[in-house]
Amino acid sequence: MIKKITSHFLVILSSSVFLLISGHFLFYLILLDVLSFLSVFPFILTISFLACFFVSIFLAQFLVSRFDNLYSSTYYFFIASLLGIFWQSVLVYFVLISARFFFSFFFVIDPIIFAWSFLGLTAFLSAYGFRNAFSPRIKEVDVEIQDLPDFWDRKKIVHLSDIHLGAVYRHRFLTKVSKLVDNIKPELVLITGDLFDGTDGDFSEAGKQLLQLHAPLGVYFIYGNHENYLGRLEVARHLLGSGIEILDDRLTKINGLQIIGISYPKEGTRHFDLAKKIQFLSGSKLDSPSILMFHEPIQFKEVSQLGVNIYLAGHTHRGQMFPFNLITKIIYHGYSFGIRKFQQMTAIISTGVGTWGPPCRTLSRSEIIAITLLKK
Ligand SMILES: [Fe+2]
Repeated sequence: MIKKITSHFLVILSSSVFLLISGHFLFYLILLDVLSFLSVFPFILTISFLACFFVSIFLAQFLVSRFDNLYSSTYYFFIASLLGIFWQSVLVYFVLISARFFFSFFFVIDPIIFAWSFLGLTAFLSAYGFRNAFSPRIKEVDVEIQDLPDFWDRKKIVHLSDIHLGAVYRHRFLTKVSKLVDNIKPELVLITGDLFDGTDGDFSEAGKQLLQLHAPLGVYFIYGNHENYLGRLEVARHLLGSGIEILDDRLTKINGLQIIGISYPKEGTRHFDLAKKIQFLSGSKLDSPSILMFHEPIQFKEVSQLGVNIYLAGHTHRGQMFPFNLITKIIYHGYSFGIRKFQQMTAIISTGVGTWGPPCRTLSRSEIIAITLLKK
């Protein structure tokens, strides 16, 4: 088992290093072209900068996991943001060279104009991405449910996913999210995993800070894949005193509404039978209106056949940046975000409240989902 985990880790590490080196080399080539108007290319400066950045990616991660303080988290935030800016610059560059190629049939674009366009568009796209990552919007969804108990008719539930508390999303962001949730006045708050980012920082105050997230009938949480990285026991310890209840492969009934919480399996979902797991917990057919909380959007058809009314998921972040949205779309067969209907079941796949990696989103805003239950 340990041997398997070690080889798995080595594969991930070596492919990440390979991708990073290729990315740095690509960025070097881009700078070589963009700065072609200079009489002498600043070779030493560029190489030093790229080398520092490469080392910083690992160093920032190490420092924030060992010494979580204002300096290490600022450093981590800076490097993560720079990674996002670099990625936007690569996209902008490919758009600009395509435009330059097209216009080359009519006139020659001045290299200085080209460089300013590169800089301006990268700055614009990055600023747009950062704004989307830190200003969650409220997404309103109405869901009609047959035989919904009278108590729940026209009541609200808030769905939060992927907050990723850690070096980037900290106490201030949580306060912002909590205030937005309070304004919705929900009866329940349901958190579908990745509440923590998994960077092994200082969460000694987490329990107290998470008290801000509250609702009259409770706040429920399930483990996502990032809680498995941090360690479930560790997460449970962080949540002590927060008032948040962990639905770790169990269900609860609140005023006739069943909430089923399934943890993200430690071995991943490749061979995981979600419908079977639900059946194991609840019997062959669900006898009351039910909401399923599972981190990843999978096996919708099988789950809907059990009689589940709402399936809450997250995980994908809708790819955060182009072209990763296309990858999540392919992996999740077109169901990587938004609202989908499967017979009586409404699947609600959140794009997430926070982000993973670069705190940047160019394809969607961070979102808090406010669900209004309606009796059919
Ligand atoms: Fe996530």
